[in-house]
Amino acid sequence: MAKKNIDWANIGFGYIKTDKRYVSNYTGGKWDDGAIIDDDMITMSECACVLQYAQTIFEGLKAYTTEDGKIVVFRPDLNAQRLANSSRRMEMPVFPEDRFVDAVVQTVKANADFVPPYGTGATLYLRPYMFGINPVIGVKPADDFQFRVFATPVGPYFKGGVKPLTIKVSDFDRAAPHGTGFIKAGLNYAMSLHAIVTAHEEGFAENMYLDAATRTKVEETGGANFLFVTKDNKVVTPKSDSILPSITRRSLMVVAKEYLGLEVEEREVFFDEVKDFAECGLCGTAAVISPVGKINDHGKEICFPSGMEKMGPITQKLYDTLTGIQMGRLEAPAGWIRVIE
Ligand code: PLP
Ligand code: COI
Repeated sequence: MAKKNIDWANIGFGYIKTDKRYVSNYTGGKWDDGAIIDDDMITMSECACVLQYAQTIFEGLKAYTTEDGKIVVFRPDLNAQRLANSSRRMEMPVFPEDRFVDAVVQTVKANADFVPPYGTGATLYLRPYMFGINPVIGVKPADDFQFRVFATPVGPYFKGGVKPLTIKVSDFDRAAPHGTGFIKAGLNYAMSLHAIVTAHEEGFAENMYLDAATRTKVEETGGANFLFVTKDNKVVTPKSDSILPSITRRSLMVVAKEYLGLEVEEREVFFDEVKDFAECGLCGTAAVISPVGKINDHGKEICFPSGMEKMGPITQKLYDTLTGIQMGRLEAPAGWIRVIE
């Protein structure tokens, strides 16, 4: 095995084509056996359901090289579960959860040379996804689907690595009450594209979306959940039916409680109370934990006491512990780490 010649420490969060990908097709009411293939191109009808009515869902998880040189993936069973939930909400067939994990493992193995070495700050991002592929013109779900997994080496999601971000309160909504915010459907991200372009043009790294119904409660950003720390070191995260149940956030709540002995709370978080928190971070597979230093609310600034230079102390401990578990420096809770043999 020879690692690819990539400047691992300096890659950003972009697409780098790797050698192999996994594909399985659903036709005639069943999934085929699936296989690892070379071709990164997809040919489909001009009228494919995914192209006309956006019937597509996805997942995101990472493979890491541990301190002792193993390749591992973090909690792929939870991504399998979440894709199954997304499938049900989007009228798509469930790709069996054990087969999902196997497809991820096969894709990592087939692209082992692309897994960034330990200590480079880069990881191998895995993108499982599924879409309706046959022609559909009346509004209805597809009958045939394709499930794929590709891999791409990535660096930090936000430029500047772990420097605190400035974000803005968005005037756009990401997800409706009783809508699709709780699943990972491509349509949620399409909804956010104009908002993220606008935020970037104005110099902000991300959007804070508020609940669409009352615009009083914190939801999430375009690609991560929020974590807040109170002045007395309690870790608080918003509870809402219209945000994505982040696997990173759920893991961090366990880390906070079990590893750091902190009090944790998942509850509605009103925007009015955000100014009273000591620390704020964005958490997700891509974001890991990215600290927020400042929130701009229509020109009014909320500046967290942790400042714009470094992460707050609790955020830092959460970050160190989670990445320590993922990189094999700390013992993981049972079932969190899947070693690729
Ligand atoms: N929220 C949104 C909208 C996301 O796209 C993501 C990324 O997957 C997350 C939260 C974080 O979820 P996870 O920690 O499972 O990656
Ligand atoms: C992830 O963290 O895996 C995501 O899907 C977020 C996306 C914005 C890259």
